[in-house]
Amino acid sequence: MTRTWPDGHDQRRLGHLHRRRCRPLLGQCSRRVLAREAQGARDTPLRTLALPGFPGIELFLKDESAHPTGSLKHRLARSLFLYALCNGRLVRGQGAIDASSGSTAISEAWFARMLRVPFTAVMPETTAPGKIRELRKLGARCELVGSDVDCTAMARAIAARDHLCFLDQFGLAERATDWRGNNNIAESIIGQMAAHGHPDPAWIVCGAGTGGTSATIGRYLRYRRMSTSLCVAEPTASAFVHGWNARRAGRCWDGAPVAEATVIEGIGRQRIEPGFVFDVVDAIVEVDDAASIAHMRALELRLGRRYGGSSGTNLAACLVLARRMRERGERGSIVSLLCDRGERYAETLFDGRWLSAQGLATPNPAPAGLPDAELPDPA
Ligand SMILES: Cc1ncc(COP(=O)(O)O)c(C=O)c1O
Repeated sequence: MTRTWPDGHDQRRLGHLHRRRCRPLLGQCSRRVLAREAQGARDTPLRTLALPGFPGIELFLKDESAHPTGSLKHRLARSLFLYALCNGRLVRGQGAIDASSGSTAISEAWFARMLRVPFTAVMPETTAPGKIRELRKLGARCELVGSDVDCTAMARAIAARDHLCFLDQFGLAERATDWRGNNNIAESIIGQMAAHGHPDPAWIVCGAGTGGTSATIGRYLRYRRMSTSLCVAEPTASAFVHGWNARRAGRCWDGAPVAEATVIEGIGRQRIEPGFVFDVVDAIVEVDDAASIAHMRALELRLGRRYGGSSGTNLAACLVLARRMRERGERGSIVSLLCDRGERYAETLFDGRWLSAQGLATPNPAPAGLPDAELPDPA
């Protein structure tokens, strides 16, 4: 029997009753599943990259590609599902959806499968084919849209139409993550750095997509009253760069989407996302795509495994900071992130033909163990 109310809000009320009845079933059981996964997860390793050309400066790289879903977005996907469950927004029988450049979607699809929740990813059609394959293997539905389509708006609209739970990484990343601790990425980095004898790194360097990672790290550093500075490594002329420069010049920026597009997936947004917290960032270093790709290849040569383009962006920014420190006679450590697995980009960033179709040169192959002076120059 269908019940109706005079105010016409029957659907919403029924949804509310349904939610109350289902809470113990989906909520408790799913939260237990997520808690068990978090407890069982091994922390991602901290790698070192020797910089003989920089006496007294040490570089550490936290390998987030070691998560079961291959990227730093593993932590975020867990938090977004938990946030949706604890807010009563995800109920039994309901599917979930999100907008992504791929990494978040893969992690969300993995958790969705664990929770037996059907999952849809809305992504640009230019997303690396390796990511789309991984998603389909995880049973996710992929909605691929043209460059003129706003993935977040599209995901929100499909969620409303099909009664799906919109996980909303761009809207919620910065608040779904517990920035004070709970083994977030900042707490893990600082703990591991302390174990390596560097309790107070000079810099932490990360990229920004949703802004969730930089917000979590920046807030944690302030919460712990640390002297460590936070640098965001950005593709040249991204929206965050425009916003940052405008703020530094005391100007107001209208936040209109910028025209420059990057081939580095996950970062270099064309508009300022709501989760990017400018006030906790100490510096932004711009890195052009050619330099990101050259440093991505340098990582492969140095570490013997492939990482994605944003890891190259991070390395390039680390070296800019290391050069500045060396010029000033400063000593200390810099720590950054290896964000995702390079295998996902076999047909794009690691393919010479694809690069030349984008107007980008293939970086020169260099012998493993190349001296630091030969690391590509990001300037
Ligand atoms: C693949 C990838 N996606 C996304 C991001 C951005 O992280 P966030 O969305 O937390 O700002 C990064 C950061 O470096 C990244 O490498």
